[in-house]
Amino acid sequence: MDGNGRWARERGLPRTKGHYEGLTTAKNIVRAASDAGIQYVTLYVFSTENWKRTADEVGFIMGLVKQFLRNEMDFYRENKIRVRYTGDQAGLSPEIWKEVDDVMQATKDFPGLQVVLALNYGGRDEICRAMRQICRDRASPVPTTGGGTPPVITIDDISAAMDNPDIPDPDLIIRTAGEFRTSNFLLWEAAYAEYYISDKFWPDFNPEDFSQALHWYQHRDRRFGAIGAAA
Ligand code: FPP
Repeated sequence: MDGNGRWARERGLPRTKGHYEGLTTAKNIVRAASDAGIQYVTLYVFSTENWKRTADEVGFIMGLVKQFLRNEMDFYRENKIRVRYTGDQAGLSPEIWKEVDDVMQATKDFPGLQVVLALNYGGRDEICRAMRQICRDRASPVPTTGGGTPPVITIDDISAAMDNPDIPDPDLIIRTAGEFRTSNFLLWEAAYAEYYISDKFWPDFNPEDFSQALHWYQHRDRRFGAIGAAA
């Protein structure tokens, strides 16, 4: 959800105003995704690197997270939307984690769109936590020298240790504000995702733009390393 700051600067407004408008866009896009019958949407709300911003900006974004969770409960209930989490919860304040956890519990049986909040999320951090989890589960660290066969760690083992192993890899990643970079988002899961870059700043991105991204995606020839249908 990139470009909130630039959207605000262009209008001579504080960056926080851009995030505020960005929250409205996030709600509109979640609604559009739900209406389109999409099963999973992950919103990259706050990265493990975003703590480098001013305390004011960080506090403001966390306040918006609360609004997204609390004020939308009726909408989640009506549309059977399930809210989930990815990231390092240990780095969140207990207050924010309780807000996230309360809504996750309240929506856990809803069968509709699953909205995953990536909050204090980093792709490298997620892979690191998964590897630590695998080592812990196997009760001994992976040996680097000496005799014996080192335990084999497979791609499936790592996928199974990620934050939400039941959620399929993303098909489509939409990035706004014209930036062509991954910014540490779903590094493991995005191996074969299609990237759609919109020049619009996130607060200007609307359901029509979202629909265009879906149409673009529908015409992609996804080969997953094999030979394409056309060939
Ligand atoms: C990136 O734009 C945006 C963020 C780091 C914050 C995203 C947060 C929201 C949209 C509000 C909360 C949303 C939900 C769903 C709880 P930027 O600030 O880096 O923009 P810039 O690159 O133009 O400065």
